[in-house]
Amino acid sequence: MSITLTRYLIEQQRTQGALPAELRLLLETVARACQHIAISVNKGALGEVLGSADTENVQGEVQKKLDIIANEVLIDANEWGGHLAAMASEEMDTIHPIPHRYPQGEYLLLFDPLDGSSNIDVNVSIGTIFSVLKKPNDDPNVIEPVSEQDFLQPGAQQVAAGYCIYGPQTTLALTVGRGVVMFTLDREQGVWLLTQENVQIPADTKEFAINMSNMRHWDTPVKRYVDECLQGKEGVRGKDFNMRWIASMVADVHRILMRGGIFMYPWDKREPHKPGKLRLMYEANPMGWLVEQAGGAATNGRQRILDIAPTELHQRVSVVLGSKNEVERVTAYHLEADKTSV
Ligand code: AHG
Ligand code: MN
Ligand code: MN
Repeated sequence: MSITLTRYLIEQQRTQGALPAELRLLLETVARACQHIAISVNKGALGEVLGSADTENVQGEVQKKLDIIANEVLIDANEWGGHLAAMASEEMDTIHPIPHRYPQGEYLLLFDPLDGSSNIDVNVSIGTIFSVLKKPNDDPNVIEPVSEQDFLQPGAQQVAAGYCIYGPQTTLALTVGRGVVMFTLDREQGVWLLTQENVQIPADTKEFAINMSNMRHWDTPVKRYVDECLQGKEGVRGKDFNMRWIASMVADVHRILMRGGIFMYPWDKREPHKPGKLRLMYEANPMGWLVEQAGGAATNGRQRILDIAPTELHQRVSVVLGSKNEVERVTAYHLEADKTSV
């Protein structure tokens, strides 16, 4: 008997007590929005959704038409249900509070509406990443208007996180802090069906993912790690490594959840004042939590990603995540290098 996302969430709510009704509604709404985005992604040129929108987001990146479409779909779907206080997105400079004409909820939703934008026009897997926080409420008698400050919570405070990958299959990966589950979209029925429970990342791996074209800009510990992988059987690691780089974090993380591996987007010398390329709040935090929930690890090279206290909504971060023993190795290389440079 196939288990739909709706049934899975209701059972979590009823028997596990792990899921408040409002959060269930929120997750169903996000999944429905991803179904809509999947339709646009699949239509491609037929839906006139490919190409650039000729606008820039707050990070100075040129937006693709699908970046904007996906952002609008997520906002339209989540505005009126009464489960949210506000949303934040890679594609919006500031937070998007729920308009006063709708009831307000206690959750905050953050998303990267379309991850892997450079792959849209070349028909390679892309995705949507999301993270859910609770709006802090110090005094229950006073309902304060929602602010950007409310979003600035460490990733360890997330109450749900996930992604949808638009690939050969459309798959939703989800955690509410009780492991990672995956649902595959059945297009004929229009429902998400449970296809994987208790996802586990093996602690060891022979596969690494990093954009090698940036090698000359890396810091010594990253160079050391990758050099040792490249030496293969003859080197200190004593085994051959394979490399993958899809340039969609969603697709690289999905592969790691399915068969292990390590993913790195480290700080590099191209833009030394930025801690990294990826964004903490709606890329690294949700992916970091999913990976930890599947038995892996996620650091910025020195510190657990989920422990970082954010200071800005669009803050960037260096990312090392995946198979536990490899992430610990890269982290140890950074800490060793810090000690010797003091
Ligand atoms: P986005 O499309 O949301 O801006 O994210 C792209 C990110 C991430 O998905 C991927 O891992 C990375 O950028 C690829 O960067 P390079 O092109 O520098 O390899
Ligand atoms: Mn992204
Ligand atoms: Mn994006």
